[in-house]
Amino acid sequence: MAAADVALSLVKLLGALIVSLYYILEALVVGIIPRAFMRKSVEGDVALVTGGGSGIGRLLCLKLAARGAKVVTWDVNATGNDETVRQVSAAGGECWAYTVDLCDRHSIYKVAARVKEEVGKVDILVNNAGIVTGRNFIDSPDELILKTFEVNTLSHFWTTKAFLPEMISANKGHVVTVASLAGLSGVNKLSDYCASKFAAVGFDESLRLELLVEGHTGVHTTVVCPYYISTGMFDGVKSSLFPILKPEYVASEVIDGILLNRYIVILPSFCRFMILLKYILPFKGAYQIYKACGGHISMDGFQGRSKDSQQQLKMTNGPEKQKSQGTPEV
Ligand SMILES: NC(=O)c1ccc[n+]([C@@H]2O[C@H](COP(=O)([O-])OP(=O)(O)OC[C@H]3O[C@@H](n4cnc5c(N)ncnc54)[C@H](O)[C@@H]3O)[C@@H](O)[C@H]2O)c1
Repeated sequence: MAAADVALSLVKLLGALIVSLYYILEALVVGIIPRAFMRKSVEGDVALVTGGGSGIGRLLCLKLAARGAKVVTWDVNATGNDETVRQVSAAGGECWAYTVDLCDRHSIYKVAARVKEEVGKVDILVNNAGIVTGRNFIDSPDELILKTFEVNTLSHFWTTKAFLPEMISANKGHVVTVASLAGLSGVNKLSDYCASKFAAVGFDESLRLELLVEGHTGVHTTVVCPYYISTGMFDGVKSSLFPILKPEYVASEVIDGILLNRYIVILPSFCRFMILLKYILPFKGAYQIYKACGGHISMDGFQGRSKDSQQQLKMTNGPEKQKSQGTPEV
């Protein structure tokens, strides 16, 4: 490379650094404006939430419907989906449920086509469904590792492929990735989960850059990285320093992430500094901090969801797989 080219690149880099100072100031100013003045409206939008049949997904359905969105819930658990429809309807909202196994790419495409026909083009896609193995790497069965990637990562590719084209055509849309803090920092006994969530974070960032580079500035993406939440998914985990998050708080922050077009929602927000430390400190120092926070033993008591709910999942996942073409319920 010629010296002149290097010099030009360095000047451009310096210019970009100076411009980014402006954006730091902008972020500080935006940070002090009350959120109420900055939220966008989702009234009349179609919002599709995967894993809407329980936990954070159900709360997101309720909150989006409360803001006037037409909500579509996708879940492998038909009973959970039904309950979400019941709760949204009881609160005066509109909700359609489709039983979909996110491990089945063809089913995703097929049901996506039905949603477009029966409800309309999707404006907000929330890739929220997730599963966890919760064992030492060496003890994790291959099937569970594969399934973890299918649900936590690959399904995001298929759902986004299904709904993004209409968002791009309208230059209006939002793709939300519910990842995890485990998508920014490794955790022992969560190797497949962390790797799948790191991949989801990478997917969001690359998609956002691609949309920007291609000039689709009306299509937004948000990635959500929360610490443990008391939904049942991580039942039994120990948290010595940080409190386990309340589902209601997490769901409200995700909704604000969407309404404020935030790029990333880290919960609790101070954890962003912990993540920064990981990259600044020597690994041995970062490991001491990991241990001081109790990260190394957090998964020791992990039980996950109760046997009853797992059984329910198996039942809906097995013989009734054809329900992925399930009838919408209003
Ligand atoms: N609970 C936590 O501590 C925690 C922490 C950080 C991030 N998260 C992430 O938040 C998201 C929501 O988690 P949650 O705590 O509400 O869990 P949850 O178990 O209550 O909800 C997950 C939903 O996904 C559905 N699902 C699972 N496999 C599916 C499949 N193959 N096809 C369709 N649906 C499927 C389940 O039926 C369930 O309704 C997940 O992505 C999870 O990884 C959770």
